[in-house]
Amino acid sequence: MVMQEMKERLRYICENCGYESPKWFGRCPVCGSWNTAKEWKADGISRHEPGSVTFVSLADEEISSLELLPSPFEELNRAFGGGIVPGSVILIGGEPGIGKSTLMMQICGYLSQQGKTYYVSGEESTRQLKMRAKRLGVDTSSFLVSNDPVADMVLATASDPLCIVFDSLQTLQVSWLDTPPGSVTQVREAVSRITEFSKREEVPVFIVAHITKEGLIAGPKLVEHMVDVVMYFEGSRNTDLRILRTLKNRFGPSGEMVIFEMTESGLKEVANPEKVFIESHRTSAGVSYSMIMEGSKPLCVEIQCLVSKMQFNYPRRISMGLDPTHLSMLSALLSKKLSVPVESRDIYLKISGGFRVTDPGVDLAVIAAILGSFYEIVIPHDIIFIGEIGLDGSVKRVGGMEKRIKIAEKAGFTRICIPADAGGSSGKTIEINDIHELVRVIRMRGRGEDVQGDNT
Ligand SMILES: Nc1ncnc2c1ncn2[C@@H]1O[C@H](COP(=O)(O)OP(=O)(O)OP(=O)(O)O)[C@@H](O)[C@H]1O
Ligand SMILES: [Mg+2]
Repeated sequence: MVMQEMKERLRYICENCGYESPKWFGRCPVCGSWNTAKEWKADGISRHEPGSVTFVSLADEEISSLELLPSPFEELNRAFGGGIVPGSVILIGGEPGIGKSTLMMQICGYLSQQGKTYYVSGEESTRQLKMRAKRLGVDTSSFLVSNDPVADMVLATASDPLCIVFDSLQTLQVSWLDTPPGSVTQVREAVSRITEFSKREEVPVFIVAHITKEGLIAGPKLVEHMVDVVMYFEGSRNTDLRILRTLKNRFGPSGEMVIFEMTESGLKEVANPEKVFIESHRTSAGVSYSMIMEGSKPLCVEIQCLVSKMQFNYPRRISMGLDPTHLSMLSALLSKKLSVPVESRDIYLKISGGFRVTDPGVDLAVIAAILGSFYEIVIPHDIIFIGEIGLDGSVKRVGGMEKRIKIAEKAGFTRICIPADAGGSSGKTIEINDIHELVRVIRMRGRGEDVQGDNT
């Protein structure tokens, strides 16, 4: 019985990926590494003294001295919840080349004016860092860099730090493990040391992490729960726009986003992002506009649609930036409720600027764009559509309606098509109840122009 218990407590753990087995293994069945099984005994003996855990009263905690550190970007500070919280660990993820190191260098350059800032790069030499700093115009006089991403050593060496940056998670390691840098055990240990240090010393630490195109982020996903803030950089490398989204924030709002523009001298915040995703500013059939919410921020997006003859013997629904299933659903609604024969047409749809939309408030504009392309109707460019469409064809209100209407007005739209129950109506709003009424709106004449090519 005792032998049995002993056996049960004996475990083998893969040093590389953390796989656990009661039996010894030569090759790890999960990560495929050889000879990484390490024996581990849960002997039930406590390594802590009784009374080593202490409790303190929250009433005694002094927080007035906890000052938020501002970054050089106003919108980013808002996304952080006012500024960088001392003692927070922030994960900045993104695809290779998107601008993570650039952002970190600009933040560090700014913070190094106020205190000691340490930038640890396992990716670029100090010379290359200097070259980037020069291009970005970052003052490097009090900027400390290192090429040794050994977390425990860095934390022990950095004296009186205001902020520490590790670039990147995939090169992180700790001194006492001999597995490859960036392996699961290394990353887990390193991040656990970093979080422990950050909380104890009240020093903010940034960790940069790569993600792949498919978003399979073994490293970052592994540590998301360990860090306080998770932000992901996205945007196409073909355009200069970059979006930083907050996935998780223990100290501020999540779902927030900051829009940057990548320039030769670094990232610049886009001051008035309302219309940044509008591409054409031209009037053509199949184009419509909508105001979506990204976190707490309304953003105007352009929807471009092309309805064409069926190429194969089934109707194709191709969409970029909108879930194709959602597009299929809306087009099915069109054929059923408005008897528009789109079931025998291919539909291609694109949201401008490589933007991905999940906000249901875009439904009305999508239907308008499909109708516009099908009937070759040019929707006047001063009309914007905000509203969700139910499967019964009714138009429904969406969250943040007042904010959306206000920003639409600010962006220069003079006819704002909204659900009848939306509230927040003004002289510029057009209220509609269902998609039958939408047809009336898209046939409206533009201010000072004629409805073109209406072949209905
Ligand atoms: N001279 C330049 N002018 C304009 N933009 C530049 C210039 N040099 C670099 N960039 C921009 O900076 C990007 C690279 O930024 P950065 O090195 O910060 O990305 P990263 O996310 O850290 O990449 P990695 O994952 O490879 O470390 C380039 O893709 C480009 O958009
Ligand atoms: Mg980089």
